[in-house]
Amino acid sequence: MKIMTIFKSRILYIINYFLKPLFYLHHYSSKKINFDWEISNIKNERINILNKISKEISAKKYLEIGCDTDVVFNNVNCEHKVGVDPFKGGTIRDTSDNFFKINQEKFDLIFIDGLHTFDQILKDFHNSFKFLNNGGYIVMHDLIPRNWLEEHVPRISNNWCGDVWKISFLLNNIKYHDYSLILTDFGLGVFRKNHDDLLLNNIDIQKEDFDFLYENFTKLNLIKKENFLNN
Ligand SMILES: C[S@@+](CC[C@H](N)C(=O)[O-])C[C@H]1O[C@@H](n2cnc3c(N)ncnc32)[C@H](O)[C@@H]1O
Repeated sequence: MKIMTIFKSRILYIINYFLKPLFYLHHYSSKKINFDWEISNIKNERINILNKISKEISAKKYLEIGCDTDVVFNNVNCEHKVGVDPFKGGTIRDTSDNFFKINQEKFDLIFIDGLHTFDQILKDFHNSFKFLNNGGYIVMHDLIPRNWLEEHVPRISNNWCGDVWKISFLLNNIKYHDYSLILTDFGLGVFRKNHDDLLLNNIDIQKEDFDFLYENFTKLNLIKKENFLNN
């Protein structure tokens, strides 16, 4: 039985990450953003970043969208935590859209790491902003795919960032608030709410692809993790 399960999951892995890309070769790009996120002192760095923010603002309420195995949810230091995931982990078994329809709570720190598409992160961001206290933070994961496979929607790679990176271009140098992109752990977007108004940059980013990110990457407000953590 166990052998059959392992066999099935291997077959699915081969189909999803070796055969599927062949159908999308017309999206191929040779460009690469060179980061080695897999090394041990970078993997899970998002936990250190979230805990630094939580401590700095004495966060009382934490919300995580997309919890999976709870590796982050269980390790963020905060008195009251809510985790939303339709499949596993967290405290609420539902999609983020459904959760925000009925939610009444406000949070100090929100970690968005749910469905990795631009449409979804945009909804998650707007909803999170609405339920974030002034002076609170939204942190977003997977904002730096390193190649066309990691960026592709639909998913065709094991490490999948999708096209959530597009939100950085809507938030870069944003009026009233602070936004930076930390160069660690697949890219962490850190947004601080300073005002009730939200005026996203008016650019048409939806149709852009990985090459756009590659060519415009250095225009973003990039920060080394050491500078963020030691600040
Ligand atoms: C990359 S995992 C999250 C990992 C976790 N936050 C961490 O840092 O280890 C993405 C999770 O998002 C969840 N997810 C997918 N669609 C979602 C949605 N519409 N709303 C909330 N979560 C969603 C998936 O079930 C999956 O567990």
